[in-house]
Amino acid sequence: MTKEILILSGSPRKAGNTATLVDWFAAGARSKGARVEIVRTAFLKYKSTGCTACRTCQKLDAYACVIKDEAKPVLARMAKVDVIVMATPLYFYGASAQLKLVFDRMFSLYKWDNQAGTVATPLKGKTLVLLASAFEDEGLDALSKPFALTAKYTGMKFASLLVSNAGVSGDIKHKPGIRKQAVALGKQVASTKSRRVLLKIAK
Ligand SMILES: Cc1cc2nc3c(=O)[nH]c(=O)nc-3n(C[C@H](O)[C@H](O)[C@H](O)COP(=O)(O)O)c2cc1C
Repeated sequence: MTKEILILSGSPRKAGNTATLVDWFAAGARSKGARVEIVRTAFLKYKSTGCTACRTCQKLDAYACVIKDEAKPVLARMAKVDVIVMATPLYFYGASAQLKLVFDRMFSLYKWDNQAGTVATPLKGKTLVLLASAFEDEGLDALSKPFALTAKYTGMKFASLLVSNAGVSGDIKHKPGIRKQAVALGKQVASTKSRRVLLKIAK
C-alpha cells in the first residue's frame, strides 16, 4: 500500500535548513514508494491570523475549517493522509508562527463532546513526524513537547529528527550525518512494515 505523506514546511526560508531537512526526508520516503506532498505554510494565502476560535467547526458533521482560504484544503488533506510531517526552525524555543498558522487550525479536525468527555478525530492512528533545527544546542526538547503531546492526545505515532547546532539557513547541508538520518527517517516512515518510532536528537 502506498503511504501518503503530507509535509507542512514552516520556515520562511525557501532554501534554508528546514527546507533541506524536508527535501532529504521526502527523498527517503519517495525512494520507498511513498507519495509526498510539500506545503510551505509561510506562503499560503490566509484569511485569518491562525485559528479564530469561532468553534463553528464543532457544529459541523464534517471535519472541516470554515475559514475559506488556502489552509482549508491543506487541513482536509491532513485528515486523509497516513503521515503528517511538521517541519520548523526553532523560533524563541517554539515552532515558527508560519507553522502555527496551520497547526492551531487542526482544531477543526477534532470533535469534542464535553458532556460525554470524548473526542473524535480522523487523525487517530496516523503518524506525526517533527523535523526541526536550531542554531544553539538548547531548546529543541521544549519545541518538541507540544508535538509529542498532541500526538499522544490524538492517538498518533510520533517520530522526530531534531537538529541542534544547525547554524543559520543553509548551514545544515554541511553538518555531517544529518542527511543520512533525515533520509533514513523518511524511508522508515514510508515503510508500511515498520512500526518502530524514532526519537533522535542530533548534536
Ligand atoms: C526569529 C528567529 C528566532 C530564532 N530563535 C532561535 C532560538 O530560540 N534558538 C536557536 O537555537 N535558534 C534560533 N533561531 C535560529 C534558527 O532556528 C536556525 O538557524 C534554523 O536552523 C533556521 O532554519 P531555516 O533555515 O529553515 O530558517 C532563530 C532564528 C530566527 C530567524
